[in-house]
Amino acid sequence: MKQQGEKIAMLTSYDYTLASLADAAGVEILLVGDSASNVVCGNQYTLPITVEEMIFLTKGVVRAAQHALVVCDMPFGSYQVCEEEAVRNAIRILKESGCDAVKLEGGEEILPAIRHMIQAGVPVCGHLGLTPQSVNQFGGYGLRAKEDAEADKLVHDAKLLDEAGCFCIVLEKIPAALAKRVTETVSCPVIGIGAGNATDGQVLVMHDMLGLNQGFKPKFLRHFGQLGEQVISAVSNYVAAVKDQSFPNAEESY
Ligand code: KIV
Repeated sequence: MKQQGEKIAMLTSYDYTLASLADAAGVEILLVGDSASNVVCGNQYTLPITVEEMIFLTKGVVRAAQHALVVCDMPFGSYQVCEEEAVRNAIRILKESGCDAVKLEGGEEILPAIRHMIQAGVPVCGHLGLTPQSVNQFGGYGLRAKEDAEADKLVHDAKLLDEAGCFCIVLEKIPAALAKRVTETVSCPVIGIGAGNATDGQVLVMHDMLGLNQGFKPKFLRHFGQLGEQVISAVSNYVAAVKDQSFPNAEESY
């Protein structure tokens, strides 16, 4: 698709029902992101979610995917300790969830783990730029790689991931010009979120783009629906119908 100039649509998914709809709508990559920690579990950060929880969520998405490739995020702590543990966890995620690939955050510092995973037969998607698992190092979720030194390191990291055999790289919240530079430099597809439109594809968090996560509206996010409002309206209509006893009516009763 990169070679043919066809853009790749990636979207996060965390459950069977919504993943089935996204798959039917033509999404090419369903990412079971560790953003599940935020949008599914209600945590402030992605850090608390576990390998077991990611496997549980990914199983539902795998059952839903008729066409899409399913990628599961490796959660914080599952690949940073040592290469051996990283490969063990990656293999466990692939075997138990049935997903096609894993994604992990970072560049040169996790390269040995990535190399071993790929050698072991686990397809790996990289993730550079804003890497939410490093929120405590960054001190927030601001734009990354504004300065030359960080931008150059990012390009260097992207080349290393590409050479190591990553099948794609996610770039999060970096200047559009830098994302273009990376996209033109590496041979694997580059998927952006908050990284402009020169990348080979885009990814968004499903709950954010559907407008379910009403309080969250960073500059890069477009609401492609207002499902939050629709859910509130539908549920309040249900509550009212229960209270005034118009639900269930005769046709809805046995
Ligand atoms: O966890 C996630 O949802 C992600 C995307 C934002 C790329 O990593």
